Amino acid sequence: MSNFRDVTGKVAIVTGAARGIGKSMAETLAMEGCKVVMADLLDLVKESAKEVAEKYPSSDASAVVLDVSDEMAVKALVEGTVEKFGKLDIMANNAGMHMHTGNVWETEEKQIDRVLAVNFKGIFFGCKYAAKQMIKQKSGTIANTGSFFGKVGHAQSATYGASKAAVHTMTQSLALEIAPYNVNVNALCPGLAASEMHWGFVEADAKALGISFDEMKEKELDEIPLHRYGYGKDLAGAIMWLATPSGEYITGQLINVNGGLDFT
Ligand SMILES: NC(=O)c1ccc[n+]([C@@H]2O[C@H](COP(=O)([O-])OP(=O)(O)OC[C@H]3O[C@@H](n4cnc5c(N)ncnc54)[C@H](O)[C@@H]3O)[C@@H](O)[C@H]2O)c1
Repeated sequence: MSNFRDVTGKVAIVTGAARGIGKSMAETLAMEGCKVVMADLLDLVKESAKEVAEKYPSSDASAVVLDVSDEMAVKALVEGTVEKFGKLDIMANNAGMHMHTGNVWETEEKQIDRVLAVNFKGIFFGCKYAAKQMIKQKSGTIANTGSFFGKVGHAQSATYGASKAAVHTMTQSLALEIAPYNVNVNALCPGLAASEMHWGFVEADAKALGISFDEMKEKELDEIPLHRYGYGKDLAGAIMWLATPSGEYITGQLINVNGGLDFT
């Protein structure tokens, strides 16, 4: 088999991997032959990594508990991975959070600080230390989880949207800086994905409209042309493309992985 689309033996870090998109992303990369290091704020990531390691023993899946807004913890995550496996091929900066901050005039400074610390600085640190290693290797791919909310403003999501917009432009800046080293950097933008974070929105929207949780889900599914929610495996599919010769010519892009939900 040629290596045109093959990720066997590639070393991947996935942040935000305890649950949701990140867990499914890590599991798919493991299924396809990657070594995976799964990082998250939640202790649950240990259970998630154990599950992945049992299902795909060749993945050597392991867990790191950390807060991505802590620069030294992210540095240690990357350096520890390189110490263990000798390289880093895929950095999936996926950890993120949403906080119900209300309208701009209701938002408190400490809420802005936390959302930007996790969603922007967390991804920035992941990029920074992955870049240092990938520059040495002259190879690698960085995939940041962005969002439609970072492309178009939404009411009651100014802080979250701004944090994702910052991720998008930082992705493009780094893509330009690191292109001479044969590293590509892109942002993957999910639409409506099946995750704890998203079910929180569904619950709130259902309440606001006076309909049930399941009715709200049906309403959302009707808006998605491919009529299903997104999963980490969909993002993992894009990462595997970007991480192999089949996708190496793609860099600095904000790639929608959204079932056709929007065309921004
Ligand atoms: N679910 C959607 O519809 C959707 C849409 C667009 C973008 N996204 C983005 O996708 C990514 C994954 O979100 P999800 O939907 O799986 O949500 P989720 O809440 O289910 O998972 C997010 C994970 O990130 C972890 N995390 C949060 N803060 C962290 C921190 N400071 N340090 C380390 N880990 C931390 C959480 O513990 C959790 O395991 C996020 O960046 C989110 O913004 C999600």
